[in-house]
Amino acid sequence: MQPTDENYWHTIAQRYDLEPGPINLENGYFGRMSRAVLEQYQEHVAFINRSNSVYARQRFEQGENVEIRRQLAELIGAEPEAVALTRCASDALQALIRNYNRLQPGDQVLISDLEYDTVKGAMRWLARHRGVEVIELAHTHPASFDSLVRTYREAFTRYPRLKLLALTYVTHRTGLVMPVEAIATAAREHGVDVILDGAHALGQIEFNLAQLGIAFAGFNLHKWIGAPLTLGFIYIDPTRLADIDPDMGESHYPATDVRARTPYSTPNIPALMTLPLVFQEHRLLGGARAKGARLNYLRDLWVRQVRSLPAIEVLTSDDPRLYCAITAFKFRGQVDQQVMADRLLNEYNLFTVTRSGAAFGSCIRVTPGLATSAAEIGVLVRALTELGALTY
Ligand SMILES: Cc1ncc(COP(=O)(O)O)c(C=O)c1O
Repeated sequence: MQPTDENYWHTIAQRYDLEPGPINLENGYFGRMSRAVLEQYQEHVAFINRSNSVYARQRFEQGENVEIRRQLAELIGAEPEAVALTRCASDALQALIRNYNRLQPGDQVLISDLEYDTVKGAMRWLARHRGVEVIELAHTHPASFDSLVRTYREAFTRYPRLKLLALTYVTHRTGLVMPVEAIATAAREHGVDVILDGAHALGQIEFNLAQLGIAFAGFNLHKWIGAPLTLGFIYIDPTRLADIDPDMGESHYPATDVRARTPYSTPNIPALMTLPLVFQEHRLLGGARAKGARLNYLRDLWVRQVRSLPAIEVLTSDDPRLYCAITAFKFRGQVDQQVMADRLLNEYNLFTVTRSGAAFGSCIRVTPGLATSAAEIGVLVRALTELGALTY
């Protein structure tokens, strides 16, 4: 399964049902389920609706959910005691941030311009509710591996009361992949804890949290793993469980159980029931290594051809350690990137999305998916070449 083998990837694309319409280069919102997963999900919805609590109470809660959690832990090479299912990455990350119990008034916490807005909001919330100071960094642009690590190292030295850092593995704005291991190592040397936002990493990047030196993390399963919407999970290194309080007096599980760290709710049982099939398909495809290689190939295909165009500024680094499927660019000289995203759609049938909130301003984000073909990437290259020549 070479990333360049269009015939092979065409057969993979055939596993997904696609609505007729624009070429979708915004696969970063959430991933498609394969047809097999979708069909199983639909069967589970009907079954759970029929059997109601009889199955849910007698079988699902009495063992099948334990097996699903075991498989989830296996997926990331962790122990089941380290993971608890949530509804999404945001739930997991907010729970980690609000329940982290090692902050004292006057301590400092750190975020950068590249964090997800929900995470930024939750870290700012700590200022009001824990009396801490929020340090907000803007990363230098363009970023390099060394500049990113240096920015954090300098911050750790400059802010001696720093206790907690929110770090995004893959930023949703440009797809920049953070040097997590190097930053976590530096953080540890300065006694700073890291909460990792892994929303976009899981399923397209191979990693091991213990090796990265990460004790706290939040993920979802509906971006690059291929699960139904509404599934995510929290990861807490079992040796650090005491540093995260049970969530708002949560008492369905003992205080020694990681599941007490997340908001309790009736879960989307039919969605959870699909996870064994979802994980099986992920593994059969070659896991994050093979999926990531294909997505990176598609990304390279357009970036290599447009990087040198005078009208286009590709914002994401070409250092293989720093990028993944997602990459963002700007039309130089255009104040409103949304106008250009609209032109991509209206004139070339290409669906992308604009993102703002980073120090470098608004950009257009391009995210191929597993059903994207090299020919579709060719349409993007033609569009950027032609529109660039017309507008710059
Ligand atoms: C970097 C990042 N963090 C967190 C999230 C939130 O994920 P979820 O929708 O699972 O809450 C997203 C979603 O797009 C994201 O891109």
